[in-house]
Amino acid sequence: MDPSMWIDVTSERFNYSLNHFVIPRHYENDLENILIPNGLIMDRIEALAQLIVQDTDGPIVACCVLKGGHQFFADLMNQMKKWITKSRKHIPLSLEFIKVKSYVNDRSTGDVQISLTEDELKDLEGKHLLIVEDIIDTGNTMVRLLKHLEQYSPASVRVASLLLKKTPLSCGYIPDYVGFAIPDAFVVGYALDYNEHFRDLDHICVINETGKTKYAIKQAEEK
Ligand code: HPA
Ligand code: MG
Repeated sequence: MDPSMWIDVTSERFNYSLNHFVIPRHYENDLENILIPNGLIMDRIEALAQLIVQDTDGPIVACCVLKGGHQFFADLMNQMKKWITKSRKHIPLSLEFIKVKSYVNDRSTGDVQISLTEDELKDLEGKHLLIVEDIIDTGNTMVRLLKHLEQYSPASVRVASLLLKKTPLSCGYIPDYVGFAIPDAFVVGYALDYNEHFRDLDHICVINETGKTKYAIKQAEEK
């Protein structure tokens, strides 16, 4: 996707105070600010769904990248169904779920575990895949996932990511569809986690140092 097509989130223009919106009590002290309120996420997803449907002419296998992608996936699928019906195109959707984990604390560990069985992977042959991801940070996870999927000869692969982080650590990978480009900070909420916490927060927020410390995993204790 061309950068002019996504929303450029800067900390000057997008910096809502925690008391401008509703935040669960248990996270009140752990967040710096609200970067993208839930309502704006929902509006943006409607536009992405319309674009994807416009670009499509046949069956899609939509692959949700778990766990962080599940909320975006659910909301994107709802909007895509709406636009497919409106457009009167023949675009049946089928769904797959891939589990990928590569982060401990706020760092990428470098290894990616993919959880489809060999039979499920072989089924992807000749299909038009739409990979649905929450965030592209360094891009390394997605590049590895795409390499892995290519071995199973899908007819085409497109990637939709809700967020694209503007980080100097980027490997240069840009998805086909991007919701928002965000500043280089660790974000949580809307199913994005920090060590499995904050998935139950509706808005996309920047975690603060208190939150990072409170929910940190001590690496020495890792097996
Ligand atoms: N937040 C949550 N998960 C992530 C992030 C982030 O900023 N970057 C990569 N995975
Ligand atoms: Mg993730």
